[in-house]
Amino acid sequence: MKVLGIMGSPRVGGNSDILLSQALSGAKEAGADVEKVILDRKKISGCKDCKKCNKMGICAIKDDMLEIQKKILEADAIIHSVPVYFFSMTAQMKAYLDRWCVFFDEKWLWQKIYYPKMRGKRIGLITVCGNTDVHMADPIVNCFKPTVEMSKMHWLGTVMTSANEKGEIVDNKAAIEQAFELGKKAATP
Ligand SMILES: Cc1cc2nc3c(=O)[nH]c(=O)nc-3n(C[C@H](O)[C@H](O)[C@H](O)COP(=O)(O)O)c2cc1C
Repeated sequence: MKVLGIMGSPRVGGNSDILLSQALSGAKEAGADVEKVILDRKKISGCKDCKKCNKMGICAIKDDMLEIQKKILEADAIIHSVPVYFFSMTAQMKAYLDRWCVFFDEKWLWQKIYYPKMRGKRIGLITVCGNTDVHMADPIVNCFKPTVEMSKMHWLGTVMTSANEKGEIVDNKAAIEQAFELGKKAATP
């Protein structure tokens, strides 16, 4: 059982990172092997819509997303954690998500070679926003959830939180607990 954590904030050690670590601790407690990828430390270009991947299932852009795509395929579950930047997700997370194109054909169905590994993969999301209304992050949920649902993966749900200063989320015991539980759920088939 492998649970992959995708950290979408450039603020390493910040709120999204803390919550993702909690989720991965939960997954570990449930018996999973866990790994965290910090997107800001990777070189990930934006999708070019060249459509080469739709035919061959191989991305034409040779950057760090290639190794992340392998980790995605190997993972049983993936938990994403990302703050709200200008009512949306960070550029790092969006570049990563757009590069999921490689897994699909021109009809937005799974590439045949990837289907056995992608089908039923469990996907979770943690969001952090500075605003006290956690629903500032709804646009992020509205990117991930339909992507998961249209492709018949399994949506684990969200942990939506508010925090501003770096690391402030440690004082939010409920959020810490919810992230831990999300991780446990990710590790449970
Ligand atoms: C460029 C930028 C844009 C932001 N835009 C928003 C926003 O639109 N709404 C909001 O509630 N918080 C916004 N924030 C605040 C962050 O979401 C907040 O500080 C969060 O705790 C950062 O999480 P992190 O510690 O994981 O990086 C923004 C922060 C930055 C740096």
